[in-house]
Amino acid sequence: MAERTTEAVWVEKYRPPTLAEMVGQDAIVPLLRSYAAKRTMPHLLFAGPPGTGKTTAALALARDLFGDEWRQAFLELNSSDQRGIDTVRTTIKQYARTAPIGTVGFKILFLDEADNLTSEAQASLRRMMERYSTSCRFILSCNYSSRIIDPIQSRCAVFRFRPYPPEAVRAQLERIAQAESTRVDPDALETMVTASAGDLRRATNLLQLTATHTDHVTVATVREYATVPLRREVEAMLTTALRGDFLGARTRLYALFTERGASGEEILRSIHGYLPDVPDTILPPREKIRLVEFLGEVDFRLAQGASDRIQLEAVLAHVAAGPSAGQ
Ligand SMILES: Nc1ncnc2c1ncn2[C@@H]1O[C@H](COP(=O)(O)OP(=O)(O)OP(=O)(O)O)[C@@H](O)[C@H]1O
Ligand SMILES: [Mg+2]
Repeated sequence: MAERTTEAVWVEKYRPPTLAEMVGQDAIVPLLRSYAAKRTMPHLLFAGPPGTGKTTAALALARDLFGDEWRQAFLELNSSDQRGIDTVRTTIKQYARTAPIGTVGFKILFLDEADNLTSEAQASLRRMMERYSTSCRFILSCNYSSRIIDPIQSRCAVFRFRPYPPEAVRAQLERIAQAESTRVDPDALETMVTASAGDLRRATNLLQLTATHTDHVTVATVREYATVPLRREVEAMLTTALRGDFLGARTRLYALFTERGASGEEILRSIHGYLPDVPDTILPPREKIRLVEFLGEVDFRLAQGASDRIQLEAVLAHVAAGPSAGQ
């Protein structure tokens, strides 16, 4: 995302190192701090949308618990690269069963994107969580807790991370802008806060992207470099679908996923934002209502973990099928 710059990536540079420095997630951070203070914790399951502080909280908790030696007591694995049961059996097992070093009696295994693990791998993980719980505590992170098997959920304290409220996003962006000596117009800041929808990774990337081009960020810069391109492409895709050209629209959709790296939710939000601007002559108001209703359903299905591609294709099919569809 922000790889275009040669300087440090701001999402890493400004990731709060300790729990005390995290903005927002007020229902979660105080509890994690009490684990750090008491030097004990159960297995944890962090569930929530991207950019809401799950990885940040896991790293900060490890630092607060283990101090400078935290790296020796903390292992991070990403389940989306190593999805299989073999990884669970070998890497995780080897790490989990060796004795902890240091004064805290356990170490932490952080398993990112745990919802990508197959159910066999999860079953095997569950047994390890039981067997090695004295020497190793697990923190599992996932976008959708519904994809984690019940026996694991019941062995964990479950924390639901919510999108950050606008105040938290604003506070963090202001802090970064100040540290980087970047002037950001108040309305440009608000545009970034709105566009990032509670995702601090997206907010931070957006600020870095615009600040790379200018040291005075205005609304125009934000629109030019961030939101507009996706919107333009979504507009082109919808226009194609509205002409009834489903296959053409689908090709554009795939390009959004692969070339732009857009997520299903982002594309859906962009379609939702664009719909009111489609002229009534092309899409009559009644059709818009029908589509907005359908977008609501798709939004729900995506939140439940349905496939991005299939759901967005269904939206295009709906649009391309035209006024008579569904009657
Ligand atoms: N509480 C916070 N205070 C300040 N910055 C934060 C906070 N939480 C997250 N960030 C910023 O947002 C970035 C992304 O957060 P993080 O990696 O924790 O998200 P995540 O919930 O793990 O997302 P994903 O589900 O995509 O893994 C961090 O690198 C950091 O820059
Ligand atoms: Mg993460």
